[in-house]
Amino acid sequence: MTKGPEIISLKTPEERRRALAGATRAILAGDPVAIPTETVYGLAADAANDRAVARIYEAKGRPAFNPLIVHVADIDMAREFGEFSRVAETLAVAFWPGPLTLVLPRTSRCGLSLLVSAGLETIALRAPRSAFAQELIRSAGRPLAAPSANASGSISPTSAEHVRESLGGRIGLIIDGGPCGVGVESTIVKVEGERVTLLRPGGIARAEIARVAGRALEAPAPHAIEAPGMMQSHYAPRAPLRLGAAEQRQDEAFLGFGKIAGRPGAALNLSAAGDLVEAAANLFSHLRALDALCAEKGLAGIAAAPVPDEGLGEAINDRLARAASPRD
Ligand code: TXA
Ligand code: MG
Repeated sequence: MTKGPEIISLKTPEERRRALAGATRAILAGDPVAIPTETVYGLAADAANDRAVARIYEAKGRPAFNPLIVHVADIDMAREFGEFSRVAETLAVAFWPGPLTLVLPRTSRCGLSLLVSAGLETIALRAPRSAFAQELIRSAGRPLAAPSANASGSISPTSAEHVRESLGGRIGLIIDGGPCGVGVESTIVKVEGERVTLLRPGGIARAEIARVAGRALEAPAPHAIEAPGMMQSHYAPRAPLRLGAAEQRQDEAFLGFGKIAGRPGAALNLSAAGDLVEAAANLFSHLRALDALCAEKGLAGIAAAPVPDEGLGEAINDRLARAASPRD
């Protein structure tokens, strides 16, 4: 029998101390931890660490990289990562800490994993109300990427037991804070300048947000409520992308994988060891770097080595296919 995850409750001061110490250690080591928030349980990892973020996707078994919510302590921490317009500021002041997520343009100094935004120019930010989540963010000194702590395709967990049923075999630590008070996910709004679009209804009612924002919320694009991340214009390099390349042509930059590595100086390897978690962690930053190299050296495009379609390889191939498809 495989060993299940450690589950630490928050019932006594001693358990709280142990939970905070254990979760902090895991976050700093790059390991995902399931934590309670006031909405649903989240699977948290260091949002500045590409590899830690890749391990969230791996644990959830997501077939594609949806962007993740980054949890911050407060608006001051959030300002480092997202550009706050006047309306965004008003909403954060009114509803944080609490179940509101703001999708904002990434700041130029953002420094968070590109994988957390799934390559988009925006970042989803939320300051949770849950005391444990707050303590962990402050104790680790890191913003925490955290999607709901369930396997892809199943419903969001509102108890530690739900998390164990869904992800038990794939994570090492679950913090049990009892049932979640709100019980539905945060409301997600995208703020572009003074425009506010409702991407996902949730713990704070639309009318309340509209009242504070002083304007009606715009409707999302069709289907955006189920999967807002998938509806965004995805990141694509300016240079054309050739997939499944067995070798690098003279006028190409090369995105290698495993032993198919390309020419030094004109190639980057997603993972020389053929490790799909490492490959996911490198995907967006390598694509950007090779795109810049094409522009600088006048190369015709980027060729990408084949990536096996298993584990995180499925999500990597999904993103590569989108990046390679003709754009409007
Ligand atoms: O209450 C919640 O929001 C919970 C707790 C753990 O905080 N989290 C949660 O995360 O529900 P998740 O990953 O299950 O849902 C996040 C949603 C996804 O549908 C994703 O597409 C969207 O947020 N999202 C994240 N970043 C985005 C972005 N830059 N643009 C558009 N949508 C984004
Ligand atoms: Mg979810």
